[in-house]
Amino acid sequence: MFERILLAVDGSEHALHATRKAAELARLMKPVEFRIVVAYDPIPLYLGEPNMQIVITNRKGEAEEILNAAVKEVGAVPCEIHTEILEGDPASAILEIANVRKSDVIVMGSRGLGRLAGLLLGSTSQKVVSHAPCPVLIVR
Ligand SMILES: Nc1ncnc2c1ncn2[C@@H]1O[C@H](COP(=O)(O)OP(=O)(O)OP(=O)(O)O)[C@@H](O)[C@H]1O
Ligand SMILES: [Mg+2]
Repeated sequence: MFERILLAVDGSEHALHATRKAAELARLMKPVEFRIVVAYDPIPLYLGEPNMQIVITNRKGEAEEILNAAVKEVGAVPCEIHTEILEGDPASAILEIANVRKSDVIVMGSRGLGRLAGLLLGSTSQKVVSHAPCPVLIVR
């Protein structure tokens, strides 16, 4: 049913919880592909060099750590795990990957790193669920 699973993570506890559910789904579904995506905020051009390169390296490093933690949390799944790091608005990045990679389901948390208390659904989840080309599993 779900051959290509796409998991979106931002390093939050919510995303880790979604990661565990995505891994369970993968163990049941035996998909051909399990893809994990993390997006980092665009780097403002006005920073100039060499600051820009330093910020890019830092952001990529953080994104890699988030991915490594997610891969560890996924554990053993009966398919290949792919990871992607994208620069830009998280919802646009997730939607782009889902379209390009032809994902069958997107798994994500209901909230993320945002601090607005009382919010039921974060803006990334809201945008993804509104424009996704496939079913979305929002984990809470
Ligand atoms: N930068 C990102 N890269 C990949 N996935 C993300 C990213 N940000 C959020 N997500 C995914 O979206 C889920 C919900 O996060 P969202 O950003 O919507 O909530 P929030 O951070 O609480 O609110 P907001 O960002 O609107 O302040 C996360 O659990 C994660 O699965
Ligand atoms: Mg957020």
